[in-house]
Amino acid sequence: MRVLIAGSGAREHALAWACTRQSSNVELICAPGNGGTAIMPMAANVPVAADDGAGIVAAAREFEANLVVVGPDAALAAGVADACTAAGIPVFGPAASAARIESSKVFAKTVMDEANIATARWLSGKVTDRRRLLNLVAELGGRCVVKADGLALGKGVFVCDDVDEAEAAIAACFDEQRFGAAGNEVLVEERLEGLEVSVLALTDSRNIRVLPAARDYKRIDDGDAGPNTGGMGALTPPAGIDPQFLELVEAQVLRPCVDTLRELGSPFSGCLYAGLMITADGLRVLEFNARFGDPETQVIVPVLTDDLLTLMADCAAGTLSPGYGVAASPSSAVGVVLAAAGYPGAPRKGDAITGLDQLDPSVIAFHAGTRRDADDTLRTDGGRVLTLVARGDSPDEARQQVYGALPGIHFEGMKYRGDIGLEQAGDI
Ligand code: AMP
Ligand code: GLY
Repeated sequence: MRVLIAGSGAREHALAWACTRQSSNVELICAPGNGGTAIMPMAANVPVAADDGAGIVAAAREFEANLVVVGPDAALAAGVADACTAAGIPVFGPAASAARIESSKVFAKTVMDEANIATARWLSGKVTDRRRLLNLVAELGGRCVVKADGLALGKGVFVCDDVDEAEAAIAACFDEQRFGAAGNEVLVEERLEGLEVSVLALTDSRNIRVLPAARDYKRIDDGDAGPNTGGMGALTPPAGIDPQFLELVEAQVLRPCVDTLRELGSPFSGCLYAGLMITADGLRVLEFNARFGDPETQVIVPVLTDDLLTLMADCAAGTLSPGYGVAASPSSAVGVVLAAAGYPGAPRKGDAITGLDQLDPSVIAFHAGTRRDADDTLRTDGGRVLTLVARGDSPDEARQQVYGALPGIHFEGMKYRGDIGLEQAGDI
């Protein structure tokens, strides 16, 4: 197999790791990759941006790739999967029309309503509909969530406590144009309370293979304090998530979504990610993503028994067999993100990273914002620098392993949370 992986995060490093795990007969290129994929024995980096469809097709042709795996949302929304399909190259990842399940929140809500998938009550509108939107804000007593319709680098969601906050959020979209065209349409929805869990599934647009559930720790500081980030760590499986729960999510969320997208003429193949909230009234979908989650992927792929590369190739070929991606023993994994000073604002870059060569072999370091100098010095090059992952028979065992390895790793200003994998009060 010759595989091109588009993207440069720890998610893509984890996908590359998974592709080479069960077969020695795999060659990879990463576009553009990072300081970790650069030194994988079976991989190389190519200087092509992940969302450059023509560049990805040209690199895939030159490499004679028989599979392209597209990681980031922006690349899918930009039509990189469509470009590969048009060029006759098998691709894991949905066409842009199906990726609208992530790139347009209004489209996602419309699909959920059509498919009878439980979600927060909602209303959408343009600037001329502001009055209707404000009426719903008032009806909800100001406790609501305001969302820009389009992709906004994860910043287009405002969880509001009162009417003033909601009005300010609507103004940020319509008046300040903070998200450009992505904020031309705005959703107001009911604010739900509960525990969040991510359930990801592979699909060829008909059959579904559900992966182990994961929890993402979105806030920068311990105890879920401070601003939202791209994710400071992940745990699989969260407490109380059993096979029955995954069956419920498949039957009530994933299957109706995949079937409805196909019926609407936008068949979805790739990784469908359901962001769920478990509320007192039952399961509700907060969002769908059209791709693997980051940092969820970094903990999910190390506990899979099935060969991910075969499954992704089956999705691309339309030949996936149904089932569950049941985790083997050890079945738990904890991933801790090491971030640069300044993150989630402008991160400090260019510091030398030391200690990775001494890492306990049972701990995996997936790279994100790293690069290598000509003399091979590894340096920080982004906000989220590394995800360190350890497995265990229980979340506690995995946690102890990963935190035990941390003191050996150093870069100036290194920041991480100390409570990743600790069960939250109120877990189901
Ligand atoms: P989204 O991109 O739609 O998942 O929103 C990002 C985050 O905002 C979610 O992970 C939740 O923490 C929060 N959120 C989104 N929608 C709601 C909602 N209806 N009620 C409460 N929190 C929400
Ligand atoms: N972990 C959240 C995401 O990938 O969108």
